[in-house]
Amino acid sequence: LTLYLPRDAAARSVGADAVAAALSTEARRRGQDLRLVRTGTRGALWLEPLLEVAVADGRIAYGPVTVDEVPDLYDALLAEAAGPAGGAAHPLRLGPPEEIPFLADQQRLTFARCGVIDPLDLEDYRRHGGLAGLRAALALPPAEIVERVAASGLRGRGGAGFPAGIKWRTVLQGEGPKYIVCNADEGDSGTFADRILMEGDPSLLIEGMVIAGLAVGAEEGFVYIRSEYPDAIATMRAAIAAWEAAGLLGGDVDGRGRAFRLYLRRGAGAYICGEESALLESLEGRRGQVRARPPIPATAGLFGRPTVVNNVLTLAAVPTILADGAAAYAALGRGRSLGTQAFQLAGNIARGGLVELPFGVTLRTLVEGFGGGTRSGRPLRAVQVGGPLGAYLPAGRLDLPADYEALAAAGAMLGHGGITVFDDRVDMLAQARFAMAFCAAESCGKCTPCRLGAQRGTEVLDRWAAGTDPAGQRAVLEDLCEVMRDGSLCAMGGLTPMPVLSALEHFPEDFGGEPGRSE
Ligand code: NAI
Ligand code: SF4
Repeated sequence: LTLYLPRDAAARSVGADAVAAALSTEARRRGQDLRLVRTGTRGALWLEPLLEVAVADGRIAYGPVTVDEVPDLYDALLAEAAGPAGGAAHPLRLGPPEEIPFLADQQRLTFARCGVIDPLDLEDYRRHGGLAGLRAALALPPAEIVERVAASGLRGRGGAGFPAGIKWRTVLQGEGPKYIVCNADEGDSGTFADRILMEGDPSLLIEGMVIAGLAVGAEEGFVYIRSEYPDAIATMRAAIAAWEAAGLLGGDVDGRGRAFRLYLRRGAGAYICGEESALLESLEGRRGQVRARPPIPATAGLFGRPTVVNNVLTLAAVPTILADGAAAYAALGRGRSLGTQAFQLAGNIARGGLVELPFGVTLRTLVEGFGGGTRSGRPLRAVQVGGPLGAYLPAGRLDLPADYEALAAAGAMLGHGGITVFDDRVDMLAQARFAMAFCAAESCGKCTPCRLGAQRGTEVLDRWAAGTDPAGQRAVLEDLCEVMRDGSLCAMGGLTPMPVLSALEHFPEDFGGEPGRSE
């Protein structure tokens, strides 16, 4: 009997390890051989722990599985493995995983292997198409790799959407030594795509980093992972060791003496270390504080050298682009938002998880189609797109297409692709206060608009909530937000006004004003 069960942190948080132990116990009790492969998650998180059994022509999924159900379920799994429709009657049976509508309706490039392969088995990775991008890159001169990435239209998935090819071109032109830095400090609440990738298919990220090194002439890379992700850290560490053992990382990665060494560094719990220059400070061993720009990291980054700093998902898109061609990637998406985006559905949502689709899908399709609306069953009132610094949008704006330009035109931002759902019980003044309090807590303290502005903003909203001179508070808040937006040194202070002012604009009734337009 061969079973697949995620050891992804989300699956573990709802009991996957206990289910794994119960399955092993059950197999021992029955005196049977059990091969239990711990995969990553497929991203249908509301179905976790999602157990899959190998059958003649694929797999059959069961979920969400609890420990109590294991003895009974084991019979169904055995019957399933033994013959056609053997386990068809079991209430947890979901059928072939790739036919579950939440998964079947996605278009997976980056996350195609997540939940399918053993994350630490390089052969499994290779069998499922891994290393094809690296093979293609090894046959190309560096500038040609960069041009293919540029031609694909790939933009930075951390949130800012800067064209990766242009960044790589700048680093290629710089003098060595140069570095590749992967920003895996996924700090936005409600986002988890980087984590799922690192835990489910770490080799894809490593392959992307090696290709980036070959492209720009960097011989060392660093993956900077937040300390809140111990499982991702452990998986990445083990995957790097497997690559080293296979001779794919180290002194001679191309058989012609080109080197690429990869190091893992753990953050220390500061949101601001997701900002690239604070991350570089932290990597250099200093307190994570934002650097003034210029210079940009592409010209003077880690240890003052030309550095590619890219998000996990930017680097993880690169192998597919090299393997399938830039044109195939650029054919997906719309306008200047090309390729696929990992949308992450969180908050008060019936079916939370990861949805990979070309840019341009509407928020409604994501939240209502894939997500199934609110988990509480109450009316949806607001979605926050792009993490804690993103805009709040009312239910009436759900027909907006999710791409960089359409959201920016609506006064919002796509950010790292997080979409957090709220039902009609949400207090939007409290949410606005949360944004200011979050900024006050996470500010690196380098510039005044953010360091003091966020603190004052929290106090203003407290007075507003207490009913003290609302008109006066509004004037001060709008003034503060303008100063923070225009005068902050980085996006932390610069973006905090977005959730605050969008809450005020779309939900004035929560601030004691007239009800807002619901669109
Ligand atoms: P930015 O627009 O200033 O820079 C984006 C990237 O392009 C940086 O790597 C920068 O070095 C590079 N760049 C800019 N001009 C360049 C040039 N001429 N040549 C080469 N490279 C160049 O944005 P920033 O401040 O890096 O990021 C802000 C974004 O971060 C926000 O839009 C937000 O969505 C996102 N964010 C993401 C979070 C997460 O957890 N993933 C958390 C908070 C914010
Ligand atoms: Fe630091 Fe905030 Fe200024 Fe950014 S905006 S540099 S986080 S004080």
